[in-house]
Amino acid sequence: MHTLGIETSCDETSAAVIRDGDRILSNVILSQAEHTRFGGVVPELASRTHLKTIVPIYQEALEEAEVELGDIGLIAATMGPGLVGPLLVGLTFAKGLAFATGTPFVPVNHMEGHLAANLLLHPQLRQHHLTLIVSGGHTMLVEIERFGKYHILGKTKDDAAGEAFDKVAKLMGLGYPGGAQVDRLAADGDPGYFRFPRAVMKDESYDFSYSGLKTAVALHIKKLSRADFEKHKADIAASFQEAAVEVLVEKTARAAAEKNLTDVTLSGGVAANSRLRGLLEQRLANQGCRLFFPTPELCTDNAAMIAAAGYYRFRQEGPGELIANAVPYLKLAES
Ligand code: KG4
Ligand code: ZN
Repeated sequence: MHTLGIETSCDETSAAVIRDGDRILSNVILSQAEHTRFGGVVPELASRTHLKTIVPIYQEALEEAEVELGDIGLIAATMGPGLVGPLLVGLTFAKGLAFATGTPFVPVNHMEGHLAANLLLHPQLRQHHLTLIVSGGHTMLVEIERFGKYHILGKTKDDAAGEAFDKVAKLMGLGYPGGAQVDRLAADGDPGYFRFPRAVMKDESYDFSYSGLKTAVALHIKKLSRADFEKHKADIAASFQEAAVEVLVEKTARAAAEKNLTDVTLSGGVAANSRLRGLLEQRLANQGCRLFFPTPELCTDNAAMIAAAGYYRFRQEGPGELIANAVPYLKLAES
């Protein structure tokens, strides 16, 4: 079966066609560049750009997949969490297509979409395992009993991991969104140059906190002369990244051990981070666990992951309702 996926929850306009749950035929992603000069996503601007681009992006996805609308057996679109205006554009477009053609429709939770990015490459991962979701809006450690049944073990108390990367990138003048730039710059730096604080919660919980780390980096930069800042830019990026990643690695490894789970997945935009992938893989291998992660393109927002989540939801529950509305604070599960 061919599934058309539509994703417009933030600043990526994306449409994709997948076959069954594991074959990507197209995954067209437009990352809206116009937000860069504002240093963050401007919701109204994002909605307008989604409106202008959703039809051509959808057409390109069908063309690239070499299918017609009549070949599509299921339409899946993100209903939340995300920005309400942007969500409404993709969701309404998808519901309109489904209504006009009589095609089954499934509304998708964006976070379940991030999880499903792993299923596109490793369909066997639908059984019991642990996942770390790290994106621009979320940081969550989740025990997955099976696809659709989630237990949230921990989440961030303040900033998300990606948000911390973006804020530090902004402080360093690296542009927005800056996670990937910090990752690149850090490759040339010394992670031991400065020890930024690791927010280990006192009660041994699996929760995270990133606002202290961001403030520590800001204070450190403030103390440096312009020349010293330029000289140590890569070292600051590497030291910040080390602190941010170490906490994620420690908690994920501890949760895997305590819950007796041997398979671990990474998902969300920050799952593209090279240091996180490397350190976590090494750490988990030492305790006999395996780490799976999506390709970098499937880590950040894309419609193929939405199509995959929609496909598995449809197989479990059948079609959703066309009255489904956008839910900006939609949860993955009760915590
Ligand atoms: O999942 P995503 O595309 O959007 C949300 O649903 O939030 O994640 C975007 C986040 C941004 O904060 C971005 O800076 C971060 O992922 N990111 C990275 C890397 N690539 C993207 N952070 C660290 N290292 C990277 N290589
Ligand atoms: Zn996302």
